[in-house]
Amino acid sequence: MRKISVIYWSNGGNVEVLASKIAESATENGADVTIKHVTDAKLEDVTNADAVAFGSPSMDNNKIEQQEMEPFIKELKLTPNNNKKVVLFGSYGWDDGKFMKDWVVRMDDYGFDVIGDLAVKESPTEKELEMAKELGKKLAE
Ligand SMILES: Cc1cc2nc3c(=O)[nH]c(=O)nc-3n(C[C@H](O)[C@H](O)[C@H](O)COP(=O)(O)O)c2cc1C
Repeated sequence: MRKISVIYWSNGGNVEVLASKIAESATENGADVTIKHVTDAKLEDVTNADAVAFGSPSMDNNKIEQQEMEPFIKELKLTPNNNKKVVLFGSYGWDDGKFMKDWVVRMDDYGFDVIGDLAVKESPTEKELEMAKELGKKLAE
């Protein structure tokens, strides 16, 4: 069974809704899924997983959340990531997904295989929830 971790930061709940949908879909597709707010996540949740989904809002001038998500992600620069499959997801208010484009490039540089990404404006539409579902399925494959 594929082990999948979904690790996210959310305050208002928009990113959390996406995280739940991705986790639910990966579970439905047969994966063993752990879902955690980044506050509760450990590096092992990434290193022991076959695939990971990371989620964050755009904050602090179009960057991933800086107090908790940023330091967690930064640590992954030093781990051997061996093309591990990663999905990135998040929500923005006005940057039109710029933070996500930067994040994809960064995770690619860190040695992950970014197999999908989804950035939504504020709360996800039904269509975007379907896209999140597809990402969960992809992670479980
Ligand atoms: C303190 C704060 C800073 C924000 N900074 C940005 C930003 O720099 N760029 C942007 O596009 N949206 C920004 N936003 C909007 C959030 O990214 C957006 O509301 C998102 O849906 C929040 O996700 P959440 O509900 O999961 O917490 C900011 C929101 C807050 C509360």
